[in-house]
Amino acid sequence: MNYSYGNPVKVVFGAGKLSQLAEVMEEHGLDHALLVADPFSVRCGLADRVKEYAKGRILDIASDVEPNPTCDNVDACAKKAREAGARSIVALGGGSSMDCAKSTAAAVAMDCSGMELLKGKPITEALPLIAIPTTAGTGSEVGWGAVLSNHATNEKIAIFGNPIFPKIALVDPELTYTVPPAVTASTGIDVIAHSLDAMCSVRHNPVSDALAAYAAKLAFENLETAYRDGANAKARANMAIASNTAGYAFSNTGTTGSHACSYLLTAKYRIPHGEACALTLDLWFLAAAQVRPEINELARMMGFADAAAVAKRIAELKRATGLRMTLTGMGVPQTQEAMDELVEAAAASGNMKNDVSGVSKELIARIYVSRR
Ligand SMILES: NC(=O)c1ccc[n+]([C@@H]2O[C@H](COP(=O)([O-])OP(=O)(O)OC[C@H]3O[C@@H](n4cnc5c(N)ncnc54)[C@H](O)[C@@H]3O)[C@@H](O)[C@H]2O)c1
Ligand SMILES: [Fe+2]
Repeated sequence: MNYSYGNPVKVVFGAGKLSQLAEVMEEHGLDHALLVADPFSVRCGLADRVKEYAKGRILDIASDVEPNPTCDNVDACAKKAREAGARSIVALGGGSSMDCAKSTAAAVAMDCSGMELLKGKPITEALPLIAIPTTAGTGSEVGWGAVLSNHATNEKIAIFGNPIFPKIALVDPELTYTVPPAVTASTGIDVIAHSLDAMCSVRHNPVSDALAAYAAKLAFENLETAYRDGANAKARANMAIASNTAGYAFSNTGTTGSHACSYLLTAKYRIPHGEACALTLDLWFLAAAQVRPEINELARMMGFADAAAVAKRIAELKRATGLRMTLTGMGVPQTQEAMDELVEAAAASGNMKNDVSGVSKELIARIYVSRR
């Protein structure tokens, strides 16, 4: 067997750690920063609190960040960074905010637009960045990817580059206590999707498998409690650890079928990211287990009898946390045209080619049809 695994991001984890932001920034030479935060963080006063904790190291706040950030969002944040003379970026929020911040870091350093990045301009440089997630979640705080959307064309595309790996991830589970149940459900199932997708990837390796199995076990054990009781500190902390650990796993493997099948559901039908991934997650996991039988062994490490038991639990968890189970429930018209469009978009997605299932359009269609 040959494999390699690497991830340059240092993680600092702990309830209340946010108050040490100035020390963490100091240690990593981060100063003259632009804070990129979503409107929620500004509205509830969190962005101001972060600015205070940075003790003068944050120059200004940019909050033009929509869920599933657009190229325009990146351009607006980059403009603010240039005007402020920012030399580093603090990313605060869910995946949307962190991805917008990472793209902004590249756009400023490379003097280019968000659209150029979305169209595939290689990421050669970026301002140094610290990522502070407020959802559990995307794991974007330890990844080299960012997902950008173009509403005009319904495109949702992941861009990658070593320069946008954050220098440091500051993970404080207290920041997730305010996440409402529906967002807890969708972001939490995304953690499970990252873990299982990592196992289904052609780039799976012993390190990513170990991280993914650990993350999935924690998420399966804690998501329902975090959903029902958002103030449960233990469940929130475990979900934050699971999210981060899954992030380390898929930072090397990439994501696979469930993510490829999600993008158009989010871009065109506005289904939240994790909920969209969850629609087909169990079916891709079962398909991969046929090709990669060790997935059943990983299922046992997660506390299940086999891959089929994992798939069954995913369906139960979706039902228990109010996630939609069918395309009809998600508002997708029952037409051949709508179905063909979904299949084409998924087949064209880079992460589909990353799936061990040897994916064909027939398999993608079969999977979507069984979720009609
Ligand atoms: N870069 C990656 O590796 C990666 C991986 C998976 C997903 N993504 C992308 O990340 C985005 C989704 O990110 P997300 O699922 O974290 O959701 P999000 O960032 O879009 O946030 C969802 C909603 O929750 C709110 N919110 C965030 N934190 C909150 C808090 N602490 N309290 C209350 N409300 C809060 C936000 O304001 C927003 O309205 C998508 O664009 C997806 O494609 C990126
Ligand atoms: Fe995801």
